[in-house]
Amino acid sequence: MEKRVAVLQGDGIGPEVTEAAVRVLEVVARRFNHNFHFNYGSIGGAAIDEFNHPLPEETIALCESSDAILLGAVGGPKWDQNPSELRPEKGLLAIRKHFDLFANLRPVKAVPSLLHASPLKEEVVQAVDMMIVRELTGGLYFGEPSRKTDKAAVDTLVYTREEIERIVEKAFELARLRRGKVTSVDKANVLESSKLWREIVDEKRKSYPDIEVEHQLVDSAAMKLITNPGAFDVIVTENMFGDILSDEASVITGSLGLLPSASVRSDGFGLYEPVHGSAPDVAGKGIANPAATILSTAMMLRYSFGLETEAATIEKAIDTVFEDGHYTADLSGGSDRVLSTKEWTDKVIEELDLQS
Ligand code: NAI
Ligand code: MG
Repeated sequence: MEKRVAVLQGDGIGPEVTEAAVRVLEVVARRFNHNFHFNYGSIGGAAIDEFNHPLPEETIALCESSDAILLGAVGGPKWDQNPSELRPEKGLLAIRKHFDLFANLRPVKAVPSLLHASPLKEEVVQAVDMMIVRELTGGLYFGEPSRKTDKAAVDTLVYTREEIERIVEKAFELARLRRGKVTSVDKANVLESSKLWREIVDEKRKSYPDIEVEHQLVDSAAMKLITNPGAFDVIVTENMFGDILSDEASVITGSLGLLPSASVRSDGFGLYEPVHGSAPDVAGKGIANPAATILSTAMMLRYSFGLETEAATIEKAIDTVFEDGHYTADLSGGSDRVLSTKEWTDKVIEELDLQS
């Protein structure tokens, strides 16, 4: 298979973790006889410095001629005082909007050898294997009208049938690749947009008789996410609820350095990035944990390229490296057996070579 990947390294640890992920993808390509071409573009603070724009035309053109996008992270203290159009995060919002990446996928899975890193009890966290599917381009964050005076402020929550249908379909399709359960989260006891959401889920489920479906109100779902997170498989929800629930879910496994994400549209094109930010406090030291970014490339292989075996091979290699007790500083819990970003990536690559 021949694929073009746009690599947008971004700021802080972005270049370090994407470099690690590209090395892993190159090994996977060699082992499974694929040809991946990596082309580099600029986004975020780095793009502001070079092009005076957080998402330059050159970068959009590069992504348009690619099959998927790998992104590091953007932002840092250097740009914190910039005016809003010259903020690094603007680049992220713009790229999601430009490519209509309406489905944000955030898997959260317990790592057996790292249960102690969780703030929850080990017996609660060990069963965790869920995927939050958040609608990313509609709802309150994009609603018109939106305005503020000093007497009042208004935000509008609008969802169209088409917007709900496509995200709900995505969730059902994903559940088929997993344990076959969808939990739809809404506030249908109060919000009209949630009532429409619930109606559409109930219509769509008729086409997916193999999928178990449940509805939960968002307040109750927020509690169950902590008391019994192992009960969830796929959670599908609107933009703001998904923003909050996915951040809540991200602390369950105990390390930001482990969590991958994807933002995709219906034709399979997508942007893959770690959940964490640019970690300016550890940037440039060669100690960042590249696991979340490497796991994001596994999602790229699975969801954009349909390469399930290759994706699972990467995930298994990472599990094994952890089981063997190899950690970067963020997970080492003060032990002196701490690996650098490069050394830890070498372990993953050794493991991939061993398996072949
Ligand atoms: P952060 O995720 O960058 O860092 C939070 C803490 O976790 C820090 O102590 C950091 O060192 C640690 N950490 C995160 N990822 C790590 C990794 N892979 N390996 C080792 N340690 C890791 O969040 P923070 O500090 O709130 O934001 C820093 C900058 O990143 C800000 O400019 C923020 O706007 C930006 N940001 C960007 C995001 C993105 O590009 N998607 C998402 C979140 C924040
Ligand atoms: Mg958030």
